Amino acid sequence: MKDNKKFKRYTVTSALPYANGPVHIGHLAGVYVPADIYVRYLRLKGEDVVFIGGSDEHGVPITIRAKQEGVSPQQIVDKYHEIIKKSFEEFGISFDIYSRTSNKIHHETASEFFKTLYDKNIFIEKNTEQYYDVEAKQFLADRYITGTCPHCNNESAYGDQCEKCGTSLNATDLVNPKSVLSGNKPVLKETKHWFLPLDKYEDFLRKWILEEHKEDWKINVLGQCKSWLDTGLQPRAVTRDLDWGVKVPLKEAEGKVLYVWFDAPIGYISATKEWAEKKKTEDGSQKTGENSSADGWELYWKDKDTKLVHFIGKDNIVFHCIVFPTMLHAEGTYILPDNVPANEFMNLEGDKISTSRNWAVWLHEYLKEFPNKQDVLRYALTANAPDTKDSDFTWKDFQTRNNSELVAILGNFVNRVLVLTQTFFNGVVPEIQEKNDYDNEIIASINVQKEKIEKNIENYKLREALKDLMDLARAGNKYLADTEPWKLIKTDENRVKTILNISLQLTANLSALMEPFLPFSAGKVIKMLNIEKVKWEDIGKVDIMQNGHKLNNPELLFELIEDDAINAQIQKLQNTKKMNEENIISSQANLPPQKADITYEDFAKMDIRVGTVIAAEKVAKTKKLLKLTIDTGIDKRVVVSGIAENYEPENIIGKQVSILVNLQPKELRGIMSQGMILMAENTKGELCFISPVEKFDDGSIIK
Ligand code: MF3
Ligand code: ZN
Repeated sequence: MKDNKKFKRYTVTSALPYANGPVHIGHLAGVYVPADIYVRYLRLKGEDVVFIGGSDEHGVPITIRAKQEGVSPQQIVDKYHEIIKKSFEEFGISFDIYSRTSNKIHHETASEFFKTLYDKNIFIEKNTEQYYDVEAKQFLADRYITGTCPHCNNESAYGDQCEKCGTSLNATDLVNPKSVLSGNKPVLKETKHWFLPLDKYEDFLRKWILEEHKEDWKINVLGQCKSWLDTGLQPRAVTRDLDWGVKVPLKEAEGKVLYVWFDAPIGYISATKEWAEKKKTEDGSQKTGENSSADGWELYWKDKDTKLVHFIGKDNIVFHCIVFPTMLHAEGTYILPDNVPANEFMNLEGDKISTSRNWAVWLHEYLKEFPNKQDVLRYALTANAPDTKDSDFTWKDFQTRNNSELVAILGNFVNRVLVLTQTFFNGVVPEIQEKNDYDNEIIASINVQKEKIEKNIENYKLREALKDLMDLARAGNKYLADTEPWKLIKTDENRVKTILNISLQLTANLSALMEPFLPFSAGKVIKMLNIEKVKWEDIGKVDIMQNGHKLNNPELLFELIEDDAINAQIQKLQNTKKMNEENIISSQANLPPQKADITYEDFAKMDIRVGTVIAAEKVAKTKKLLKLTIDTGIDKRVVVSGIAENYEPENIIGKQVSILVNLQPKELRGIMSQGMILMAENTKGELCFISPVEKFDDGSIIK
């Protein structure tokens, strides 16, 4: 709320990323870096804050990805949860907990939440007709249906959207619908679902958002909310016919799960529970004060003096400003978010970031390719934050931000001060002598900038707050350039003592102001100054280090990034572009995507040999099968193969083929088949032998 209400504690959440891919710079710039800056700032101020993160592990895209890769959904989320969690840690996103929605505690919490609303008669029950795949015995979620878009005739539109013309669709709008599972035409079948009647909450939402928060929420957020409200809210189904997710806790809802957007935001609550539990065990039975994080999770979700803030990207606005608050309000015991500072999107080199096109800078790759440069990326993403409009990340800009700002301004100031002190005073803090107006002015500017930074962070204007920080470093540089201690040392050592003392105190102040934005570099400065972390309330003081305090040896705070490193990244993106163009051609040919990775051990289990067809005949009463006798080099054996539509028996005698010899024998049409002939299959379903290019010994191992 606007009237600067003082809160007792903060619950800060960051959108739970889907665990179907790693995290990229778009996620970081829009959600995680801003949230982390905000939280680090609050902690420095000594506030009681819990910072929540976790993986969103349900939803249809995860089940589809699992199907494509031929693994279970659990295997998909296990893999990406680990990658995401580790990369956040290394990047310094300082979650108090990074949880996941496949956890037991989450299933219980989400299920209970649904039950509470159900018992309060909040939901509407409705029978609707939905597409069903008879062969797969499954209702089809929107993404499981493709067909022709009624607007633009695109033949591969999805059941919820046509990606070609951008229209959002209902599955029943599609011409010639096809099930992704079987390729068959789905049939309509009746199914029951539970709907959250958003329309009944319109008055509450209007008042809460458009009146109470019209001053403090961001314009883009208010704008989207207003447009949703003006279009008219509809009841929204919160259950799905799917077998991956939180089971609907009703007897009559067998085979149904909660809609992913119903369960995921409850994940914030489950994660807070998990954190509070852990905290309790860590703190033991120690009785702790009001402000302690050992207090139960409920204080963080149900106490009016808690400020709840959701950091999200713009595609999440409706869920965090309309759907989830309605759920919380209907439940009745929860607080509502005080703010939802949603950001716009960050593009990459002029193109929309896309996971499926691999058009992204992936965090886990950046960390490997730019070791110990977390702060450079944090800086570049914040300085170019998509906070009021979409922004564009380019590698050239990244390089310039590093070389001309971090190195040339902030790094330059800190290093000059430390090196000069080392050279002139052996790394010992000299005593202030007499201060002049300029000295007082530079000292005063610390507090001026501190206040600006506070105000901007508290209003989620992090790009501007970062600029305030850099302006202070600029002022420090100018102070040195104007006073020229390196010249003065020959004529007026006392003056140099004053200048360097003040510059060192400024550096110590900078370390605290840097910490929310550049935590790794702040730590370096603290180490070089040989001091403890400076508290936020001590910023502005100029006696952080006493006279005679010994500093540690200076090292470079930031290093130049050379053209080579940047060009390599640009080249990498160009390769992606090229591959995408080729992929478009192959996806037009409907090639299935690459299967999940296997280990060499998986592969090595297969014994594949070169063999020669020595006899071939049709299997009676079948269209497809041939009975082949193969000389495998080891033995002569019979194999039944489904190639009769592609090869005439008489034409293949004497042909060399590849044969998997250690496949369990199997009886087919009364014939024992001992092995499998390997075939290539193109998108038209045509088959072709895999043969050695020239005649080769039977029994040779293919590996
Ligand atoms: N997984 C969603 C996305 O990436 C965000 C979920 S936020 C939560 O868009 F609130 F639902 F958790
Ligand atoms: Zn279309």
